[in-house]
Amino acid sequence: METLTLKPFSVMPSIKCGWRSLSTLSKVSMRVVACSGALKPSISTERVSSSSVVVRAAESVVLAPPNGKSDEIAVKSLVPYVDMDEDGGIGIVKFLRGKVFFITGATGFLGKVLIEKILRTAPDVGKIYVLIKAKDEEAAAERLKNDIINTQLFKCLRQIHGKYYMSFMMSKLIPVVGNVCESDVGLHVDFSHLIANDVDVIVNSAANTTFDERYDVAIDINTKGPSNLMEFAKKCSKLKLFLQISTAYVNGQRQGRIMEKPFCKELDVESEMKLAFEDNGMGQNMKELGLQRAKRYGWQDTYVFTKAMGEMVIDEMRGEVPVAIIRPSVIESTFKDPFPGWMEGNRMMDPIVLYYGKGQLTGFLVDPNGVIDVVPADMVVNATLAAMARHGRAPRPSMNIYHVASSVANPLVFHRLADLLHQHYDSSPCLDVDGTPIRVPSMKLFDSVDDFSNHLWQDAARRCASTPDGKLSKKLEAICKKTVEQLKHLADIYQPYTFFNGRFDNSNVQGLMEIMSEEEKREFGFDVESIDWKDYITNVHIPGLRRHVMKGKRGFN
Ligand SMILES: NC(=O)c1ccc[n+]([C@@H]2O[C@H](COP(=O)([O-])OP(=O)(O)OC[C@H]3O[C@@H](n4cnc5c(N)ncnc54)[C@H](OP(=O)(O)O)[C@@H]3O)[C@@H](O)[C@H]2O)c1
Repeated sequence: METLTLKPFSVMPSIKCGWRSLSTLSKVSMRVVACSGALKPSISTERVSSSSVVVRAAESVVLAPPNGKSDEIAVKSLVPYVDMDEDGGIGIVKFLRGKVFFITGATGFLGKVLIEKILRTAPDVGKIYVLIKAKDEEAAAERLKNDIINTQLFKCLRQIHGKYYMSFMMSKLIPVVGNVCESDVGLHVDFSHLIANDVDVIVNSAANTTFDERYDVAIDINTKGPSNLMEFAKKCSKLKLFLQISTAYVNGQRQGRIMEKPFCKELDVESEMKLAFEDNGMGQNMKELGLQRAKRYGWQDTYVFTKAMGEMVIDEMRGEVPVAIIRPSVIESTFKDPFPGWMEGNRMMDPIVLYYGKGQLTGFLVDPNGVIDVVPADMVVNATLAAMARHGRAPRPSMNIYHVASSVANPLVFHRLADLLHQHYDSSPCLDVDGTPIRVPSMKLFDSVDDFSNHLWQDAARRCASTPDGKLSKKLEAICKKTVEQLKHLADIYQPYTFFNGRFDNSNVQGLMEIMSEEEKREFGFDVESIDWKDYITNVHIPGLRRHVMKGKRGFN
């Protein structure tokens, strides 16, 4: 049996951040024990004390009597109270019917997939107020059309409703001008009253997802935003659920199997906000400040640190408001719904995938045996809707957390990903400016910065050797140097992810799946174990990137 020590965040000055579950369990010494030899180690926490309560695995508690004898009383399956729908399952569609939503971040990648799914599977949903940053109502309505209604993602709904598509969409989606950074989330007072009396479910998907964003900007959207929205939620008379879209990486640089647990309240978020907004002597160095503060407390970058603080303020403020927190890992293109391969934006692993396909990057800095935790966007949305129905049908003032992640259930190892990228581009190469297929070599993976750096320079030199005189012009040399620097910067930002040593436990998500009916599993499935990575990466995700993100441009068709 291998014993993993549950490490606190790496650098800990006076303030520590641990798990509430651990701190409330006891002050006695704790160990997290992972059974060896399994990709899915069963976790058990052992309280090493005279009262000898031994907790093993997620669902079984074994009580040893105080006399210390070894006969154990097993209390099987600690299954939480489940309010099943009378027709079986969670009752997702039934829950959605007639409900009124208030959604932020709907113009973004994930928000759109959520709205599409609600409108397609529950056309009799009440209405969806969509918070949009815009100068006035007219501009918000314009953005609703351009950024949501008229996008490719909605093509199935367009087919379903034919000539009534626009009137259907306009009857359900109500654009409202706002900004999560402002008090009352920037709503006009009339809208604020209207929504507060009308809304059943609030979904906060708004975020700034730039890893090294300015500290003040990131904290404003990712920490103050949830706080402003929760303040608004408390005014909503019939609210059933506040659902926050977070990220699995709020767990910072924790290692081993990471459970779906809230944070303790030991980090002084107020002081962090003050530091970000007050004149702190950092001048233009606000990017640097964000990274410094994140690393000081054990998070890899400003994005995940400010998102983690967003969760902390929600927990601190929620009072009687029922809360669900969805923590997806890296969200990539849709698996099958509304069609496979839909994607928006060139994010996370995708710049590397695309540079590689164009022959501009032949290696990367990554732990070859490490795991990249990827989930398709439609699975994230399905899990979100299942959690929403589960906790919205029988609201209780609790906070439930869900890791929508694949690293425990179906790990995708980096060297396998590299093979799959090669397989894809080998059979469907990109084209150069002359229309000639670009042949890419197998991707080299480096686990040392020096080796990676050398590789980049050798690659640049090799390209130079392919010029007629074997020399780089000054201009080409400058371009090469800049490219090498950019790639090194990219590798540096990604390093905490490409060398990440944690795996996201998803017991709560598995539990949700178990209480779904067969029909719900078909319509709202999120079984990451069912993903065949070869098929998904080579036939779904990369073709989706080429079609919807690169839009067939510059040889990507
Ligand atoms: N993408 C991923 O791989 C990933 C992984 C894990 C978790 N997540 C989480 O999932 C959620 C959605 O991410 P995404 O990929 O869809 O992000 P995205 O495409 O960048 O969209 C962000 C959304 O937030 C809105 N927004 C930003 N600042 C705002 C403000 N001050 N007030 C109101 N709205 C604001 C944006 O509006 P504008 O259009 O006006 O800018 C946009 O609609 C986020 O909470 C993110 O942290 C994402």
